[in-house]
Amino acid sequence: MRTLRALVAAALLCLVPALSAHAAAADLTYDFENGTTQGWGPRGGGVSVTVTPDAAHGGTSSLLTTGRTATWHGASIAAPFVRGVGYTVTAYARQVSGSPAATIALTVQRTPTGGSTTYERVAAATVTDGGWTRLSGSYLFTAESTDVQLYAESSDATGEFYLDDIVVTPLGDPTREPVASDFEDGTAQDWAPRAAATLQSSAEAAHAGSRSLAVSGRSASWDGPALNVLGRMAKGDKYALSVWVRLGPEATAGRLGLSIERRTGGTPSYERVVSPKEVTAGEWVQLSGTYTLAYDVDFLSVYVESDTGTFPFYLDDFSMKYIQPKPIQTDIPALKDKVPFVMGSALTRPDALGVHGELLARHFSGVTPGNELKWDATEPREGEFTFADGDFLVDFATRHGMTIRGHTLAWHSQTPDWVFQNADKELLLKRLETHVRTLVTRYKGKIAAWDVVNEVVDENQPDGLRRSKWYEIAGLDFIRTAFRVAREADPDAKLFINDYNTEFPRKREALYALVKRLKAEGVPIDGVGHQLHLNIEHPPASSVEATIERFATLGVDQQITELDVSVYTDFVSSYDTIPPELLVQQGHRYKELFDVFRRQAAKLSSVTVWGESDDVSWLRSWPIPRLNAPLLFDDDLQAKPAYWGVVDSSRLAPPMRRLEAPAGTPKVDGRRDLEWDLLPDSPIARVGDVSAGFQARSSGKGLYVLAEVSDPTAGKDDRVTFTVDGTPYVVKRTGSSYAVGWTGGLKAAVRPTPTGYRVEALIAPGTDVDVTVSDSAGASTSWTGKVTTAPAVKLTSAAHRTPVLDGAVDRVWSAAPEIRTATWIQGTSGATAKVRSLWSGSTLYVLAQVADPMLSEESPNPWEQDSVEIFVDPGNGKTKGYEDDDGQYRISFSGRITVGGTFDAGGVKDHVKAVTRTVPGGYVVEAAIELPTITLAPGTLLGFDAQVNDASGTARTSAVTWNDATGRSYLDTSHWGVLRLV
Ligand code: XIL
Repeated sequence: MRTLRALVAAALLCLVPALSAHAAAADLTYDFENGTTQGWGPRGGGVSVTVTPDAAHGGTSSLLTTGRTATWHGASIAAPFVRGVGYTVTAYARQVSGSPAATIALTVQRTPTGGSTTYERVAAATVTDGGWTRLSGSYLFTAESTDVQLYAESSDATGEFYLDDIVVTPLGDPTREPVASDFEDGTAQDWAPRAAATLQSSAEAAHAGSRSLAVSGRSASWDGPALNVLGRMAKGDKYALSVWVRLGPEATAGRLGLSIERRTGGTPSYERVVSPKEVTAGEWVQLSGTYTLAYDVDFLSVYVESDTGTFPFYLDDFSMKYIQPKPIQTDIPALKDKVPFVMGSALTRPDALGVHGELLARHFSGVTPGNELKWDATEPREGEFTFADGDFLVDFATRHGMTIRGHTLAWHSQTPDWVFQNADKELLLKRLETHVRTLVTRYKGKIAAWDVVNEVVDENQPDGLRRSKWYEIAGLDFIRTAFRVAREADPDAKLFINDYNTEFPRKREALYALVKRLKAEGVPIDGVGHQLHLNIEHPPASSVEATIERFATLGVDQQITELDVSVYTDFVSSYDTIPPELLVQQGHRYKELFDVFRRQAAKLSSVTVWGESDDVSWLRSWPIPRLNAPLLFDDDLQAKPAYWGVVDSSRLAPPMRRLEAPAGTPKVDGRRDLEWDLLPDSPIARVGDVSAGFQARSSGKGLYVLAEVSDPTAGKDDRVTFTVDGTPYVVKRTGSSYAVGWTGGLKAAVRPTPTGYRVEALIAPGTDVDVTVSDSAGASTSWTGKVTTAPAVKLTSAAHRTPVLDGAVDRVWSAAPEIRTATWIQGTSGATAKVRSLWSGSTLYVLAQVADPMLSEESPNPWEQDSVEIFVDPGNGKTKGYEDDDGQYRISFSGRITVGGTFDAGGVKDHVKAVTRTVPGGYVVEAAIELPTITLAPGTLLGFDAQVNDASGTARTSAVTWNDATGRSYLDTSHWGVLRLV
């Protein structure tokens, strides 16, 4: 940097021999104190430029321009600018007494080689005769040019004006220098309106200091203050941007965000640095984010906009700083050398540049463009194909010898509206055919595999097919057409059907049935892509393995296409910093997954992670903006525990799992009592052929433990060792058991099961537990963690009867036992309910008789209205987070229904009917909930809970449940009770 500065200074010296005596280091100052014009001369016939003592900004003299007769007349100098170097220019101007106010601008005129003369405004302001006004701006030019001039002009053709203290400061490397605005000098500091907005330095509000920039008179949501940052960012570099905003006078609410406009060859693109967020009245809110410039640009501007509305606001303390990247690690193994399949990563344009590009090249043997080949990117308007970004990424991959997955040809998302506009089936399929043929032909021989269709399955539809516009207009024919045309266009490309949640049994089966059917018809499907967007807890690696084994029976290739492991189990939580132990847990999760992939390598041709490093993950913005870290490398591109989970799990800190042991006293006889079925077994991942599930119950007598071992070949050394606070308890498959150094009586029982054996034991209580399952061939797998006691899981039952849904308590209800809500999650008293359940066919009926004398529905939030919530988990999966058939059904006393569940609640939302009735002292809710995803039968267990919300006015004053004491029943199904159908 120093050398660059020195070079710049030297260049300036050559260009401008008459440097002012006041020029510091590399700054150029024209202060007109030595009596000369310091190189400035007239611009335009009849103009004269002189030094005068009549006015001065600093010192005793300034430069006076008179005799003007055109707006472009003024004072000019051979500009001290060097191509490729950025400058800030400041100056002070004042009208001669009697000249009206006018806009005075500093402008650069130059002639690019082979082009025509350009005029570029550097700074401008409204100037009066009443005082000095500061002009300030920055400037950079990149094209070879001649006749470069800096001049001052005025909107008033005849106005006379003074100039003083003109300072030109070259920026070292302009892309490395911070940019900042604080508006303390009373000017707009280079910010300019995007359209009609008025910008003014203002003392009405300030984030720091005493002034900010007031923005008013906006003509549209996108109109507002913009700062030209062309030349201040370099392609491939990352910048941290931050600005503070506050609502203007009279504005009471609004959302503001920070965006970038860039243009290449005149075509503008808009990108969000910070999505518009709520700005509370009277508060300063920070908008901060990072941006990586991924394009060659000829226009670059950062601006603040609202999502809707034209309300006024203030902005203050803007900064933009280059982020120096950490070099990538070169002393760790390349991922691609450590796995027996193509190791892929999604990438978008910025990921192929700088250190991100280096990381990709070092570790990955395959890539999938994350957005650049989608329909909205490749054919935004009918017949107008754009491949600049796609080509760029395909070239990058080809240069690095990577295989490329094309993603994706037909999808319901990121597809422009025109595709479906006025489309009957024939037209839609014609558009599809053109699109598929154009893309696949363009990349013939380059793209090895295409996701021909993406996310077409919906297991909650009777036929298992997503109700997309594609499907609604063309039925299955859109899939058939897409595959046929792709095959015709490139017979060597492998054609995939790609989807998420394929590791969940219902979705797995729906996709399986579809692939089987289409293959039987001769549709050229070569493979199935499993996206695998997982979370830290769920689902277990064993479900992924079951899916791979299932699809192998169809004789198709398989790929893992979009793997990531979110640190969240729900769609609302957010960490400020991610707990380090969670990242270790994630490392073990990746290990278990890659154990599966390695074991199944013959069935998998590639495994792709959806992004190379946490900083570029889509899970930073989906489903909500939040800190997430789902990938193998961190924000600084350094290896995470997740990386070591893939490469060398001996480098991971030991896992620390957690398990609750609810109160319980199962009989130790080797049989699986109902008691154990209330909760799912915690998985112990497969090693070799051995895997297991584990549970515990606490009681005064000790810890009851259960291990369900899957181990197909019996050997005399097969055994389970429970180590509690250092004492090992060994139970052999043969039935013998012992505890070394423990004198208490070990109670144990073993029974064979279809896939192995079951161990039940009563051992001493303790918290630090290790369960290791070993087989005679030497394979062993374990669970290590903390076991804590918890209240018993409540169990009730539903009788097999059909009530009339009318809000009246028919006789049939007396067939079911009554439970009461008595677990307070807010407050300690208030409305409660007596609840009973019945079932018949595929319907669950719930009756809640609520004691609540004062009823209110005033709050706009349904959970703050007097209401009953019923929680149903058809599989009793007890998962952290909702699966797609888990539902939270809320019925207000007046019969209003709201439904919560997984992200879109699509699998549950139309499944509830209810009738309510107010009665003296309260109300009655009678609800019918359809459960189409399972077969109801005597003995079926449902995860189940009930909650009563008590409202007073607009506030919820208490809430009480039957079983779940966590207050998280709306996010997490793991603490609901159990309902058994009888
Ligand atoms: C995501 C991209 O990563 C994001 O940048 C974009 O905003 C939305 O789409 N399943 C898919 C991918 O098949 O195409 C999605 O990619 C992630 C979910």
